Amino acid sequence: MLRFVRKKRSLLGLDITTSSVKVVELSLVAGQYRVECLAVEPMPPNAISDRTVADPQAVGEAIARAVRRTGSACREVAMAVSGTNNHLAKIIQMPVALREEELEIQIELQADQYLEVPVDELSLDFQIMGPSPRDRDSVDVLLVASRMSLVSALRDAAGYAGLTPRVIDIESYAIENASQLLRHQMPDGGVDRVIALVDFGATSTTFTVLRDNKLAYSRDFNFGGQQLTESIMRSYGLTIEEAGRAKKEGGLPGNYQSDLLDPFIDDMNQQVIRARQFYMAAGNDREQPEKILVCGGCSSIPGVADLMASRIGIAAEKADPLGQISVTPLARSQGAQREANSLIVALGLALRNFD
Ligand SMILES: Nc1ncnc2c1ncn2[C@@H]1O[C@H](COP(=O)(O)OP(=O)(O)OP(=O)(O)O)[C@@H](O)[C@H]1O
Ligand SMILES: [Mg+2]
Repeated sequence: MLRFVRKKRSLLGLDITTSSVKVVELSLVAGQYRVECLAVEPMPPNAISDRTVADPQAVGEAIARAVRRTGSACREVAMAVSGTNNHLAKIIQMPVALREEELEIQIELQADQYLEVPVDELSLDFQIMGPSPRDRDSVDVLLVASRMSLVSALRDAAGYAGLTPRVIDIESYAIENASQLLRHQMPDGGVDRVIALVDFGATSTTFTVLRDNKLAYSRDFNFGGQQLTESIMRSYGLTIEEAGRAKKEGGLPGNYQSDLLDPFIDDMNQQVIRARQFYMAAGNDREQPEKILVCGGCSSIPGVADLMASRIGIAAEKADPLGQISVTPLARSQGAQREANSLIVALGLALRNFD
């Protein structure tokens, strides 16, 4: 086969959360992304704790089940360290004349000074951002560090599943990367605009601000749909599984909306209000986001984005990451449309294949 028509190696985006493993594979066909296949597999209780892998073997087994269900033959994965408190990031200036290998050596030697913490237990990575606006003999370099133990636990879990980690990313950057699939929902495609993305998961909520389509701020909170599931369980004497199912499929008593769902939606709005206050207080160059894109499983609660818009006074819309890309019949049968909103992180990771 001619080299230039050889199919690009594929890569699975793997989002490992407290409640599930999500796997997505994307391809690039005639300049358009296509979802090839996906799977969402429940995570065994206590396999993840504090958003980090606590039991690599149990997590590995869940990953293996998820990958098997996708039907993909791909064995290379992109994964992310999650939790905005689990990494450090800093933009540093380095001499423009350094070659990449020299840059790497310099950064390793001086990282503790830049990060102001001992680096022997940190896993370091960097990315050259471009010429430094401060000094024309320098380039801006994004230096990112996460705890070595978190990265090795991810590697171990992938290893148990017989997979090779090709990319270990940071969740905030995976979300930034996935936001390219949401540009059709942003004014001017996000160019020169400030847009917030809020991901309401099962146990955590991540508030991300993009400025000119680049990550400007990210923070997560311990808030998520599991709180609603637990109150359904307690109020109606259901098991956690029954409560989770009833929440999605309906059939709960008439007072569910007023007693449980409406107060939960109020809490979601409060989280966004608080997150926005933290963001505005985090620097004096902060601009209010002009639109909020809502994703994560809880964004499937009917009408939630409209309620958010009217309570908070900013345009809000449910994120639609598959709106401008194609989906194979296989991925459709695997629930692509239903799960799309929970797949932001996994999609951002799968997109790393095309960097
Ligand atoms: N149709 C729906 N209506 C209400 N809630 C839903 C619906 N679909 C999913 N959810 C809830 O969304 C949550 C799962 O969201 P998601 O898959 O984004 O979380 P996660 O990424 O696994 O978790 P986290 O990001 O917190 O680690 C669960 O609490 C689930 O009950
Ligand atoms: Mg999530």
